[in-house]
Amino acid sequence: MIEVKNVSKAFGSLQVLKKVSLKIEEGETMVVMGKSGVGKSVLLKQIIGLSKPEEGEIWIRGKETTQLSGEKLYEANKDLGMLFQGGALFDSMSVFENVIFHEHYHRHTPLEHLRETAQRALHSVDLKDVMDKMPSELSGGMKKRAALARLIAYRPNMILYDEPTTGLDPLTAQVIIDLINKVNKELNATSIVVTHDIVLAIAVATKIALIDQGEIHIVENPKEFFTHQGNDVIDFFKTILPQQCLDKRVV
Ligand SMILES: Nc1ncnc2c1ncn2[C@@H]1O[C@H](COP(=O)(O)OP(=O)(O)O)[C@@H](O)[C@H]1O
Ligand SMILES: [Mg+2]
Repeated sequence: MIEVKNVSKAFGSLQVLKKVSLKIEEGETMVVMGKSGVGKSVLLKQIIGLSKPEEGEIWIRGKETTQLSGEKLYEANKDLGMLFQGGALFDSMSVFENVIFHEHYHRHTPLEHLRETAQRALHSVDLKDVMDKMPSELSGGMKKRAALARLIAYRPNMILYDEPTTGLDPLTAQVIIDLINKVNKELNATSIVVTHDIVLAIAVATKIALIDQGEIHIVENPKEFFTHQGNDVIDFFKTILPQQCLDKRVV
């Protein structure tokens, strides 16, 4: 279980998160939605420990991690992986080195033992003949898939996805949606998916959290999103989603 308890984070006078709380049970996929700039990426960074909140607690499988750093943080987060916004491959490394980064640089497995691991991970996201390419030689969709292959090779069973389909055309976005469902299932993952994409949200969510002005609203049953009448949270949600998201409705 991942639990965020009363977390606040500010940058100077900008109060981004105000006592935000969120609980993700084992095996659940919590989709987090909200307008640009509300603090979704900041929230994920607090959870993974890349940035520290001024107050509040982050619990990762029963361990409070906000006070941890270095090896202790690494140990507490070893089953937690993140797909960064934009894919975030290391530009100066080949696709192969990116995919086996964790095994090689953290677990110190020699590179020559890892080609098969990388091949398998790339195969599961339908990427062929890219091992020795540089990220700059890949399209946007291929970069996302390579970043997903890195997650698969790492095999975390808690995964944070930051806007995995943003900037992709609808067909490529659908490929990524199917892959997220496949990866989550294969790894039996507990995950958080930050997105603006309602099609992605409905396809993967077991619950949806909406962040607005530092507050969180939860939709317990996303499958009812388009058909449900008279639910205050869902009605509110629809008013803040861009119209093009609602136009893509899949009911
Ligand atoms: N390291 C930082 N320093 C200063 N301001 C930041 C920093 N990171 C994020 N912010 C600000 O916090 C707000 C929330 O950012 P972010 O979480 O990236 O939004 P989003 O919901 O679009 O992911 C934005 O106004 C952003 O400019
Ligand atoms: Mg963001």
